Amino acid sequence: MKSELKISKKLIVSEIDCRIYGSFIEHLGRAVYTGIYQPDHISADEDGFRQDVIDLVKELQVPIVRYPGGNFVSGFNWEDSVGKRELRPKRLDLAWRSIETNEIGLQEFFKWTKKVNTEINMAVNLGTRGINAARNLVEYCNFEGDSYWANLRKSHGQEAPYAIKTWCLGNEMDGPWQIGAKTSEEYGRIAAETAKAMKLIDDSIELVVCGSSNSQMPTFGEWELTVLDHTYDYVDYLSLHQYYGNHSNDLPEYLASSLDMDQFITGVVAMCDAIKAKKHSKKQINLSFDEWNIWYHSNEADQAEKPWQIAPHLLEDQYNFEDALVLGCLLITLLKHADRVKIACLAQLVNVIAPIMTDEQGKAWRQTIYFPFAQVATYGRGQVLKSVVDSDFYRTKSFDEVPYIETIAVLNEAELVIFAVNRSSDEAMDFSIAFDDISVSEMIEFSQMSGFDIKAVNTLDETLIQPSASTKINLSEKSLQATLAPLSWNMIRCQ
Ligand code: AHR
Repeated sequence: MKSELKISKKLIVSEIDCRIYGSFIEHLGRAVYTGIYQPDHISADEDGFRQDVIDLVKELQVPIVRYPGGNFVSGFNWEDSVGKRELRPKRLDLAWRSIETNEIGLQEFFKWTKKVNTEINMAVNLGTRGINAARNLVEYCNFEGDSYWANLRKSHGQEAPYAIKTWCLGNEMDGPWQIGAKTSEEYGRIAAETAKAMKLIDDSIELVVCGSSNSQMPTFGEWELTVLDHTYDYVDYLSLHQYYGNHSNDLPEYLASSLDMDQFITGVVAMCDAIKAKKHSKKQINLSFDEWNIWYHSNEADQAEKPWQIAPHLLEDQYNFEDALVLGCLLITLLKHADRVKIACLAQLVNVIAPIMTDEQGKAWRQTIYFPFAQVATYGRGQVLKSVVDSDFYRTKSFDEVPYIETIAVLNEAELVIFAVNRSSDEAMDFSIAFDDISVSEMIEFSQMSGFDIKAVNTLDETLIQPSASTKINLSEKSLQATLAPLSWNMIRCQ
């Protein structure tokens, strides 16, 4: 099988906003407690954070982390999580029916973000709370001068403002499962007024307003248009959330998940631009795909978990090789839309539907999906080039034309990087890349994940699924030919 990618530096989609390689830590399951934080663990640092997790998160190159939820935020009183630890209340977290000790709160999480070289994407509670709690939180985090909430932060040992730039106006407010769920009218109004107040305190912040919880929501479309109608002048991004899974054990269909993501993004961009036109606005609303991943393996196990535990084993999906291929396709799709998707958060980061897992007694380890994410987040920096691709197609239940190849090229001053997935289960692909006006003279790396059983997983003891170097590549002056193994994730770097 053959495919061809034509690239030109004249056809630039966009400069990549590195926040598309963001992730997410929610107070959910073992993400925080026994995930990033475990004072009695052998690798714990002076603040109780696991050094083994810090090392893996740093290696992943995650520039922004959404916090503290998710569904959790809709019942969260942020004031519970600051100040003296011994005075912090234990609360019932209704979203996940767990006990929240508040041992880790905003102060500690901020400290952790510095250790892993990232920044916070902070969500405010628009479920059980509203304008006042949100504006107080912005004042606590970002106000420099002499005011009640800023002084409280200083009295907690943080003199300089946290200077949090990116904020989410609630979470999945259309979802019936959400504490304080709202209609699009109700949410649109409260989001607009909250945004107004938050920006009056700090007009340098950027705000993400909630889109639908997923593209299958019955109110999808109507929700986006109504919410944007109310909030257009006050917000900067509209959120998208979507999780995928191989529910019917149909690999060709599962590998086409990224076509669904592509349609979802295209549809939401159109809605943003429709409201722009309606309002005769000069401003462009961009997208924050602030929850995306594969989530389905743990659904049954979660039903058996008892309520009201501290750090229960929830959403601990164990990812296999086919999940890593799908994740690679999803990453490429986000890159294809880098002109409008400026923030994206892989949901989530540690233990909860995560690339990084921890053993309470043992080490932290990398799931299969860790590898494509780490490679794209590390090397997918610079400008995305338009993919002009010639490929054969296959048909699935949901899609008439699924290209066998999913691919994208990224160019920066140092190198040209190509990411590609061969979706064919049985045929290797002769992949050629034609680069007329880009001068490339040397290979840096051709790395491939292939040849594994599609259901094989990594474990605490064995990292079976990971990339390895391939030599099946030829570079000439104007083109490059690589052999992409059947069912493979590939990264080609040249200069
Ligand atoms: O990421 C897990 C959950 O998925 C989040 O809390 C929620 O926003 C979404 O439904």
